[in-house]
Amino acid sequence: MRRSEFLASVVAGLTGGALLPHVLHAETRGVPAWPTENPGDDQFWTFLRDQFPLSHERAYLNTGGLGASPYAVIDAVKAKMDELEQVSETGHADELLLELKTGAAALFGCRTEELAFTRNTTEGINIVANGLPFAPGDEVILTTHEHIGNAATWVALEKVKGIVLKRFEPSTASSEENLARITGLLSPRTRLIAIPHVVTTTGLVMPVREICTLARSRNVWSFLDGAQSAGMMPFNLHDIGCDAYATSGHKWLLGPKETGFLYVRKEMLDTVTAHHVGAYSAGEFDFLTDKYLPHPTAQRYEYGTVSIPLRVGLGAAVAFIRRIGIEEIWKRDRALADRLYEGLKEIPDVVLLSSPDARLRSAMTTFMHKRRPHLELQKHLDTFNLRTRSVTEGGLEALRISTHVYTSFDEVDRVIAGVRTA
Ligand SMILES: Cc1ncc(COP(=O)(O)O)c(C=O)c1O
Repeated sequence: MRRSEFLASVVAGLTGGALLPHVLHAETRGVPAWPTENPGDDQFWTFLRDQFPLSHERAYLNTGGLGASPYAVIDAVKAKMDELEQVSETGHADELLLELKTGAAALFGCRTEELAFTRNTTEGINIVANGLPFAPGDEVILTTHEHIGNAATWVALEKVKGIVLKRFEPSTASSEENLARITGLLSPRTRLIAIPHVVTTTGLVMPVREICTLARSRNVWSFLDGAQSAGMMPFNLHDIGCDAYATSGHKWLLGPKETGFLYVRKEMLDTVTAHHVGAYSAGEFDFLTDKYLPHPTAQRYEYGTVSIPLRVGLGAAVAFIRRIGIEEIWKRDRALADRLYEGLKEIPDVVLLSSPDARLRSAMTTFMHKRRPHLELQKHLDTFNLRTRSVTEGGLEALRISTHVYTSFDEVDRVIAGVRTA
């Protein structure tokens, strides 16, 4: 399949035929034709790497911070913007937006009407935190390793509503241990467990299904911060059983920056009140009679004029991920991460913070050096053109490496070699 055909298949159905000329135009960038359709084949991943404008000079290893977008996404945004700017219209069309959500719902294992577009994970977390009916003294369980997005929101709510935060340190030893730590914090005042699906510090995969089952058995709500799982690993939100889940489009999903999704379980829509409302939030509205009924779907959390090109780009990103196959992505990302983990393990001065149990690890690998402070080590790796991320959450001083679809085994080996010379 030629690159143009690949791009066309990715965007097919998203915007009708409107994108095709731009997709074909992208062929002039000189990217070679796709030699194989087998994702198990190295040639496939080389082909896939060429779908990104991302520079080859520097190994980009911070997808957990921000994902790089492929041409399919960039071209989709540009094409929609070109189209709309010719007529100066917003491009807001219910059918189009529904179609974009349908692709994401298939990827996340939920219903289309349970998804709202957001600007990022942080916005989704804020909608949930401020929308749930907390009373003073209600308790929320979190980890000590939250990203500021799932930390500041709750601390702010503690000041405003008088909720009480209870924290546990996520264990990299076993899922049972994490369940035990959460169980130990449960009390009659617990209203919510709000934890990451994949922990930002160490890449630990939380036993979310078991945690959400435990929450439900105690009449406690469950919220998952999915910033580090969407686009990285397969999952099914209905199977997990969480009440809400927020993620970003601009990380592992490879979408445009300032995009995201919020999932709220259908039965929870009326419990999570929408506070930021306006155009598109209402199902029924009449100003003169003070009538306001929230939109029957999660669209109730959307409001006002937004960038339709960015949403079309997010739809193209979801289509891109689904075109490769989320199972294949997870396999590839994990194989790269495993090679890194095993390589770093051989270096005597390295302390690995990611779990020794491969089943609990993700595509983010975190480590420290016994003799080099993490920022010094980061600078050292910079000289090898390696873009890493420093980890300070949870009081750690470590470096995190993200391995995603554009990462090569050579780049992983460069990290190992770089750390070895530190
Ligand atoms: C676990 C976690 N939650 C939330 C966020 C915030 O994401 P955003 O800035 O896209 O809202 C991040 C970002 O790295 C994260 O790792």
